[in-house]
Order: sequence, then structure tokens, then C-alpha cells
Amino acid sequence: MRIFSGIQPTGRKHLGNYIGAIQTWVDGQALGEALYCIVDLHATTVAYEPADLRRYLYDTTAILLAAGLDPERCTLFRQSDVAEHSELCWLLCSVTAHGELNRMHQFKDKSAKQKDALVSAGLFLYPVLQAADILLYKADEVPVGDDQRQHIELARNIAERFNERFGPTLVVPRHRIPQVGARIMDLQSPDQKMSTTNPVETGTIYVLDEPKAIIKKIKSAVTDSGSEIALAEDKPGISNLLEIMAAIQKKTAAQLAQEFSGQRYGDLKVAVADTVVNYLTPVRERYLELRKDEQRLESVLQKGASKARVIARQTMTEVWRAMGLGTVRS
Ligand code: TYM
Repeated sequence: MRIFSGIQPTGRKHLGNYIGAIQTWVDGQALGEALYCIVDLHATTVAYEPADLRRYLYDTTAILLAAGLDPERCTLFRQSDVAEHSELCWLLCSVTAHGELNRMHQFKDKSAKQKDALVSAGLFLYPVLQAADILLYKADEVPVGDDQRQHIELARNIAERFNERFGPTLVVPRHRIPQVGARIMDLQSPDQKMSTTNPVETGTIYVLDEPKAIIKKIKSAVTDSGSEIALAEDKPGISNLLEIMAAIQKKTAAQLAQEFSGQRYGDLKVAVADTVVNYLTPVRERYLELRKDEQRLESVLQKGASKARVIARQTMTEVWRAMGLGTVRS
């Protein structure tokens, strides 16, 4: 089985990214041939500073290695090092409906947030590039958080349409969304997913937050009226804390709700803070070591890109042939 997934090198990585995706990437190394890509081309679809992008790219690489990605057991690479991603994106544009892209939630959300800034055509085509990432490697499975469901569905539709139009060439992928922790919510606004772009900084726990900051954020997390610890729709704050703890302890939120029944909100917060600090502290410590050596990070990415290119070129040869493009090769 081949596994593929991607992560943006934008801003700082948060607990949602870590639980919803990075953790499953680490586990994926034991399940099949895993390819993981830091998608810097996607990051160019909104305003950015080139020097920051390069810095964030190394930050993200170091976080992924600190989390447990092992370059001997997976292929970790930078998207812009493999030119075939852009090339396949263009070719897939002709089997993607304009209306389909118009319906993408993330495009709607992100373009609404741009306010006066330019809403680029790149932002509109973002999901096609994402489909290209996946289909280029003929991935069977794509581990992602719940917010990527619609993008993966689109990648499936594009692959199916390509195969119908040009003959069986691409593999139709399926998503792997974790049962627990697929949608970690903001601690201050538990009706919104945790993200780097939410207005209140204290709602987001960053992977590199110091223990003190983590404890403070969890202690000030919004709770709900009432005092009973339970998993319920009208208790989004408490349900989110239970979900975070359950994902880390590999339990279900319902199990934890039972364990905590009769206790106070404050007790739950102390336990969750403790669990998150113990979970992230070793990652932060390894990160600080790894981040110092940019040459090593660069070398990991380049070796990864060399491996990825072999697969990418093979797929592109098949795609050209199927589409009647390029020099005919025997
Ligand atoms: P990105 O960089 O926004 O997020 C990386 C991963 O983190 C997951 N995630 C979350 N999971 C749980 N709770 C949250 N609050 C939360 N926020 C983010 C995301 O679902 C994602 O799995 N478009 C992708 C990057 C991408 C990609 C791909 C993914 C580009 N090409 C090909 C898979 C396959 C993205 O923006 O991820």
C-alpha cells in the first residue's frame, strides 16, 4: 500500500495538525510505503514573504522529524523540488469542472478572509494541485484531518474522470481520517477548528509552545454552562478537551467522559494540560536540536525528492502517453 500526504509550511504547526495528521503520518510508516510532502507551492497562493517561506519550510521539516518521521522509513520531500507536481496540476485542470472548484469550502473561507488583498487564481486551483500531489504517486491512502475530506473527494473525482476519458492510468485514492482527533477545535471558540488564522491567539496550542503557555491556554479554555463533564453537543468546550485527551491517550472521548464523571471542569483541565505537556515536550526538545542543522534538513529533503522524482516521472510518462502529449516513445 502506498500512502501520501502533504502539509503546508505556513505559520506555526498547532495541536490540530499534530493530532489530526502528523501523528497518523508517523504511524503510517509501519503500514506501507509512505511519502510525505511539504507543500510550499500551495503556500504561494496567498500573500507571503519568500524569506519566511524558506524559514517555515525548515521549521516544518524539523517538526516532522522531531515527531518521529524517519527518512529511512518514509520519503519526506519539498513539493517545489519535484517539477512534475506543477505539470500534472495543469493537465488535471482539463478534467476538473470550474463549478466543482467553486464549491470548495476552503476556497470560499480563504477567499472571504482575503478582504482587500488579491484572491489569486492559484487559490482557486489549489485543490487541483492537491489532487496532482496525490495522483502523481498513485497513492492508495491519504491520511488527513477532517477539514480535507472535500479535497480528497475531489481528487477521487478527478482520477475517475481522467481514467474514463483517457483510459485506466491513475489510482483512485481514499482518505484516512482518524476516528478520534480528526477535528480539534479552538480552545476559545470551540465552534471553530483550531487554526493559525483564528483571531484569538490563546485558542491555539502550538507544537512548539513552552509548557507554561500550554497550561495557561488550557486553563483559560472556554467551558460550558453547567458543571457536569460529559460529551454533548451543547458542551463543545468540554467535548473538545475530552477529544484532545482521548486522541493522545488512544482512548475514546466517551470512555474519558465516564472516567471523569463526577469531577469538576478544573480537574479535567489539569489532566488535559498535563497530558498535552507530556505529549509535546519531547517533540519540542528534539525540534530545538534538529532545527540547528539546516544542512542536514536540506539533505533529508533532497534525498527524499530524488526518490519521489522516480515515481513522479514514471506516472507522467503514462499520463503524457494517455493524453496524446509529447514525443511518442516506443
Ligand atoms: P494543512 O497544512 O492546513 O494541514 C495539515 C494537516 O493538518 C490537518 N488539520 C487538522 N486536523 C485536526 N484538527 C484541526 N484543527 C486541524 N487543522 C488542520 C489537516 O486536515 C491536514 O491533514 N491542503 C492541505 C495540504 C495538502 C495535502 C496535499 C494534504 C496539499 N497537498 C495532498 C493531503 C494530500 C493542507 O492545507 O493542510
